[in-house]
Amino acid sequence: MTAKIPLLIDTDPGVDDALALLMAFNDPGHDIVGLTIAAGNVGLGHTVRNALKLCEIAGRADLPVHAGCADPLLHPSVDAAHVHGVDGFGDVGYPPAAQGPQAEHAALAILRLSHEYAGELLLVALGPLTNIAVALKLDPTLPGRIKRFVVMGGAVSAHGNITPAAEFNIAFDPEAAHVVLQAFPHLELADWEAVVAHGFLHARVEQWLQADSPRARFYELIYRQTRGWSADRRGDHWHSADALAMAMALQPEGVLEQVDRPVAVELAGTLTRGATVVDWNRQTGRPDNATVLVRYDQDHFESLVRAALAAG
Ligand code: RIB
Ligand code: CA
Repeated sequence: MTAKIPLLIDTDPGVDDALALLMAFNDPGHDIVGLTIAAGNVGLGHTVRNALKLCEIAGRADLPVHAGCADPLLHPSVDAAHVHGVDGFGDVGYPPAAQGPQAEHAALAILRLSHEYAGELLLVALGPLTNIAVALKLDPTLPGRIKRFVVMGGAVSAHGNITPAAEFNIAFDPEAAHVVLQAFPHLELADWEAVVAHGFLHARVEQWLQADSPRARFYELIYRQTRGWSADRRGDHWHSADALAMAMALQPEGVLEQVDRPVAVELAGTLTRGATVVDWNRQTGRPDNATVLVRYDQDHFESLVRAALAAG
């Protein structure tokens, strides 16, 4: 029997984070060893409560949830409450989870788990990279113990979603993203442009949400606000960024096309702060530090999402 892959998820739930977490909960090949929580989509208090609630709904109240940094490293940023709701979960007024977070800070949990699962750990980042940057500042040797590092973030041709040039996770804390990209010799990147190319028809998502399961019923509630916002602005497809990154992380065999390139973060640009600048023509001489997702098997992706929602 193949041993399960230890999986650590850093996340800022967020409605699309929630879908990615449900996918991870439903994957038999991975053992979730912790959830570390970032501020981003909404404030840290909300993202922690949302993570705890989703674990409870999914029957995973056993999972350790670690609160992380409440703010970006240097500059304050605007949240994404307009997309996810003020509380990050569609403002449905759910009763709080019975269980609380761990006392250990997210950055310390990341370091501890990197030692406990040295050389085996799959680290998936679904939010701003503040917690991982702080962990790196505490212990620069962290990357050497991480087997795979998958990041949802960036916009590799500057088609941003929060500014014309930048994607939300990177733009929320560009300095953290810079620290992380400088420290990790390699990461796998599911950027916003790949997300846009792998949308779901809203009508199809509505079908999936008819599944008779507590996860589907809860998700149908928290998704409504995002659905409305998305339909108004992006038409008949919904784009679940973190779900695509989680598909790449959990089932890399579904990747149909990817490309390796040097990627860096713009920190100073007036119009471009937070942009992920890809050296497409290798003009800088920097090494390829990112494997950028281009195409994922859409049918396989949708089957993972549908199964995650229907899981009992
Ligand atoms: O740009 C999309 C990303 O920003 C997703 O991770 C979403 O949850 C928000 O964090
Ligand atoms: Ca997220």
